[in-house]
Amino acid sequence: MTRPRLDHRLLLRLTSALFAGLGLVFLSGCKLAEVFNLSGNQSTMVTAGPVAKAQWDLFMVTVYVSTFIFIVVGTVLAYAQIKFRAKSEADEHAEPPPQGHGNPFVEIGLIAGSVALLVIIAIPTLRDIWYTHDVPESEKGNAIEVTATGYQWWFKFEYPSEMVKLPSGGEAPLVTSNELVVPAGIAIRVQLRTIDVIHSFWVPKLAGKVDMMPNRGNFVWFKADKPGYFYGQCAEYCGESHAIMRFRVIALSPRDYSLWLENQKQPARTVTAQSLAAATSPATVQFASMKVNPSDALAGSPSFEADPLAAWHAMQQPEAGENAQLIATGRKLFSDKTCISCHNIRGHEGVGITGPDLTRVGARTTIAAGVLENTRERMHAWIKEPNHFKPGNKMWFGGYNVQDGDGWKPNFQVTDQEIDALVAYLHSLK
Ligand code: CUA
Repeated sequence: MTRPRLDHRLLLRLTSALFAGLGLVFLSGCKLAEVFNLSGNQSTMVTAGPVAKAQWDLFMVTVYVSTFIFIVVGTVLAYAQIKFRAKSEADEHAEPPPQGHGNPFVEIGLIAGSVALLVIIAIPTLRDIWYTHDVPESEKGNAIEVTATGYQWWFKFEYPSEMVKLPSGGEAPLVTSNELVVPAGIAIRVQLRTIDVIHSFWVPKLAGKVDMMPNRGNFVWFKADKPGYFYGQCAEYCGESHAIMRFRVIALSPRDYSLWLENQKQPARTVTAQSLAAATSPATVQFASMKVNPSDALAGSPSFEADPLAAWHAMQQPEAGENAQLIATGRKLFSDKTCISCHNIRGHEGVGITGPDLTRVGARTTIAAGVLENTRERMHAWIKEPNHFKPGNKMWFGGYNVQDGDGWKPNFQVTDQEIDALVAYLHSLK
């Protein structure tokens, strides 16, 4: 007697909810393009190397299989609901139809279907477990070995195959911090270590997360298809500043890489009045000047964001307008303020190992473990109050402030003029 109950009010409510949701997205200023942007700096969906690609492809296999199951089950469910719905008042009060049990054809079919789908997922899974575990045999001969060590909250990178002569005599592996420079197109095998707690090494566009465990050697390998500037991130909660424990991977052409290595192996660059006079037309490095305040402190300048790899190349050159006098003052302050006891500057006075190696800090695009772009303004702000940018860091607690019986008290202070000199010195280290 009554017609099928298509509840118009329910349909109306669902439609309004959908439009209200879309309206919210637009009103809040999100463009749909941003909502569906899949290629951000730390996106795993647009890959730049074979390891990340294998992981992404495997993910898509499971998406396809799940979509297939969703469509089959959804179709059967929708068909049953429409075909067997109550069409009249009498249907609603009718006895249920006779119930069937144990149809061997359906049961065996469902088991066989499920097994087949699991096998479809298992084959590429097993293949990729082997592939992503270690550098393929065919590439082992060329692979470059690097050791990455996690510290609260920054990364040290060592190149055991690249030995450098120490000023004190002897040799040690080349060391750098927070920016891992590698050649593109060559497999990189990274030994993962930690000095304190568990960290995790992750470069979303190049390779997935592997933990850096105390007392246990892990490793990961990756390869960048072509030169590029990649964003890395600690991916295991490791304390106050875990979320801003970042790093970069800079992949260069083989030629640029060997030039970089050659420069890295030299002792720290020393700027004197004579060397300034001898320098012919120094390259200009000008990032957009910007005020540092809490809201924009972590962003990069537009010129940097537009082409970070070009910005990295520019950073390798001495800055225009270097002031030898100011640099010398900064170098002296670096000793007087005891910076030397935590930071190494190979060839100059720094000898410490608890903080990042600063032998070529002026040539890095970022400071404070990838959190701040390495402009003069930002390095000034960082030196002025490191705890503002990286809460809990050891430079602030233990360097600027020391603990005695009554708690923390200031160890030393730096004026703005002193910081300017320190920045000039550190930026001269190219
Ligand atoms: Cu290191 Cu999280």
